[in-house]
Amino acid sequence: VSDLLDQLRATCAITDPARATTLPAAAYRSPELYELEQARLFHAGWQGVCRVEQVASPGSYYSIDLLGRPLVVTRDRDGALHVLSRTCRHRWMDVVSGAGQASTLQCPYHLWTYGLDGELLGAPLMNDVEGFDRRENCLPRIRHEVWHGFVFVNLDGTAEPLAPRLARLETYLENYDLDGYRSVDVTNWDCPWDWKIMVDNFMECYHHLGPHRNSLEDEFPAAMSWTDKGDDLFSIMHIAQDQKYDVRPPFLSPGSPRLRPEQYREILIFTVYPHFMISLGPGFLYWMKVLPQGPGKIVLQLDICMSPAALAHPDRDILRRELVDGVIAIHQEDVDVCAAVQRAVDSGAVDGVGRLSRLEQPLWELYRYLGRHLGLVTPHPAGTDRDGSSPAEVGR
Ligand code: FES
Ligand SMILES: [Fe+2]
Repeated sequence: VSDLLDQLRATCAITDPARATTLPAAAYRSPELYELEQARLFHAGWQGVCRVEQVASPGSYYSIDLLGRPLVVTRDRDGALHVLSRTCRHRWMDVVSGAGQASTLQCPYHLWTYGLDGELLGAPLMNDVEGFDRRENCLPRIRHEVWHGFVFVNLDGTAEPLAPRLARLETYLENYDLDGYRSVDVTNWDCPWDWKIMVDNFMECYHHLGPHRNSLEDEFPAAMSWTDKGDDLFSIMHIAQDQKYDVRPPFLSPGSPRLRPEQYREILIFTVYPHFMISLGPGFLYWMKVLPQGPGKIVLQLDICMSPAALAHPDRDILRRELVDGVIAIHQEDVDVCAAVQRAVDSGAVDGVGRLSRLEQPLWELYRYLGRHLGLVTPHPAGTDRDGSSPAEVGR
């Protein structure tokens, strides 16, 4: 593994995006690297688990397994949101599964009953058990933060608060009314490729030329996409629309009347590291929830949401159908390329590293993030991680 870390360091230490390279192929299949990523990126960082509308009213709950840990997001009677372990404190049965409405969480094994805030309310026939204290047997709370309607969790409780680290994103997001978007379709995808292959694919429009040549390329050409300078915890890029097209549903319309004209002409793409990916337009958003399953393997939940203006439109159901069909068809086009890339890196036959185009600057930023968080390059104070080689906007 020290060999791999040395190769990785060579990529992550590149300070000039014009010289950027890919990671070494072994980085996408190494069990040792995956162990490190789990501890330093996934447990120590922030991961998106759901939208607040998936736990909309008092009594709502939503289960999710994150890195093998059974969790449940709840909204208690007072409307407060909690993220709890859903492993019973008695003998570790799941106290609940799936999603729905409940006034309490009752373990189906021996019927211990917990409140939606995790408190143990009752445990049958445990009165005469010496030293048993209900207060010591609550469901552990997992640290969470709600950001623009997305529920994020930090499993090890050590991460810096999320919102301040995303502060520079706010200027991009203003006017969209992001908090008011609503999830209208969620699909699960078994993906035989590494989480980094997914982020690599998501954060560049260079490949509109290939897999998306018959869908996106004409209206949203690769060459018109452009990237902004990212930050310690995120990368951002713009998919600009060719002016020969009108602003039209379901992606660019209907949107908030407060959006500026140029915002109606683009889709914003950003990734909050390690792997919260979102594509945002006036009429829609979709985000990809990555559930890592091991090196070279993820489950992806593709969550498609409509904007408040789209939801209020009289043709809302037609718009919804067009949107869901459109997003899924485009995602389907990425499936083959991602799977093929993983097959190649798994073959062990890939030598050296590839060179990146200027449109792939967010990949370089991801590798810089990896380098900092895996301890491969010296971290610089927040906001100054560019070693003086500050890449301003490129590609415009
Ligand atoms: S395992 Fe939950 S009550 Fe026994
Ligand atoms: Fe794509």
